[in-house]
Amino acid sequence: MKQDQPRPTPRAGIMDIEAYVPGKSTAPAGVTKVYKLSSNENPLGPSPKAIEAAREVAAKLDVYPDGTARRLREAIAETHGLNPANIICSNGSDEILGLLAQTYLAPGDEAVFTEHAFMVYKIYIQAAGAKPVAVKETDERADVDAILAAVTPATRIVFLANPNNPTGTYVPFQEVRRLHAALPKNVLLVLDAAYAEYVRRNDYEAGIELAGSSENVVMTRTFSKLGLGGARIGWMYGSAHIVDAINRIRGPFNVNATAIEAGIAAIRDRAHIERSAAHNEKWLAWLGAELTGLGLRVTPSVGNFVLIHFPDDNRRSAAAADDYLSARGYILRRVTGYGFPNALRMSVGTEEANRGVIDALKTFLKS
Ligand SMILES: Cc1ncc(COP(=O)(O)O)c(C=O)c1O
Repeated sequence: MKQDQPRPTPRAGIMDIEAYVPGKSTAPAGVTKVYKLSSNENPLGPSPKAIEAAREVAAKLDVYPDGTARRLREAIAETHGLNPANIICSNGSDEILGLLAQTYLAPGDEAVFTEHAFMVYKIYIQAAGAKPVAVKETDERADVDAILAAVTPATRIVFLANPNNPTGTYVPFQEVRRLHAALPKNVLLVLDAAYAEYVRRNDYEAGIELAGSSENVVMTRTFSKLGLGGARIGWMYGSAHIVDAINRIRGPFNVNATAIEAGIAAIRDRAHIERSAAHNEKWLAWLGAELTGLGLRVTPSVGNFVLIHFPDDNRRSAAAADDYLSARGYILRRVTGYGFPNALRMSVGTEEANRGVIDALKTFLKS
C-alpha cells in the first residue's frame, strides 16, 4: 500500500544496516533429536552452581538489581586479579561493544575491523553513524599491517576479535602489542576476547595487561561461551576515563538480577570452567583431525568451534551439507554473511554430537 501519511523515519543510515541473523536453533519438522552447534555454546551446559543461584534469585525478582553489578564485578576482579572499579558489566558483551561505538563514534568518524570479523562491529559502527572500514585478512587471520594501513585521521576505534569468530584464528600477543604501539593515542583499541577461556597457546593473551596499562585499550569478555549464553553477561576492562564515559550512557540496570547471581556463581566455579576447556581442547583437536581426514579444509581454530570449508561442487557444497546435517538434527551455522559462502561453522559439541556430525559427513561426502 502506498504510504501517503507522514510517519517516523529512522535516522540516516539505519535502514542501510543489515540486521544480525543468529544461528538457527531448530531442525526441519520430524527431526526428534536436535544438536545445536550453531552458537558456540558450552556443550557441558551451565555450571550447576549457577543454576542453583538462578533458582534462589527467582523468589526475589520483584527487587531491582544493583545497577552497578558491584558483587559481579568483584567476583570477576577476584578471579582475574583486577580492580573492580575498572570493570563494567553488560547484557552480553554485545551490549558493551555497542556502548563503546556509541560513546566514541560520530558521523564522519571511521572504525576498522577485519574482513571476516564478528559481524556486530559493523552494525554498531553504522548505528553510531560512522563509517565501517573492513580490511583484508591474510590466511583468514587478522593482519596487523593491513589494519595499520587502514588507519586514517578519521579513525576512532579498531575492533579486534581475538580469537575471531567465525574463523577461530588468533593474533599472537607480540603482534597485538605491535598494533597498539603503532596506533595513534586517540584511537581506541577494542580487544574482544570472547573465546579467551578456550585458547591454549603460549603466545596468546586476552589483553588484561595492555588494557590495564594503556589509556586507549579495552578488553571485552563474555560468560556466554562458558555456559551462560541465555543469561546475557559480558564485561569490559579498561581505564577509568573510559569506564566513566560508558557509565554515562549505560542503561541504569543493564544486567538483570538472575544474570548477576548466576554470573557470580559461574565465575567462582573454576572446576566447571576447567572441565569445559579440557573437553574443548580434546574435541577441537579430534574434530580438526577427522574433518581433515575426510578431505575437508578446516581453518585452524583456537576457539570452541571450527570453520569447515566444502568442495566447490553443488552436490557437496556447504548448503547441501547444511541441508543434509539439519535433516539429521545437526544444526551448524551458515557463514555466507561473513564472506564464507561455502563453509559451515560448527561448535564443538558433546561427544555424541561430534561423532554424529563426522559420521553423517562421511556418508554425505560419499553419496
Ligand atoms: C567474537 C565475539 N564477540 C562477542 C560476542 C558476543 O557474545 P555475547 O553478547 O553473548 O557476550 C560473540 C558471540 O558470538 C563473539 O563471537
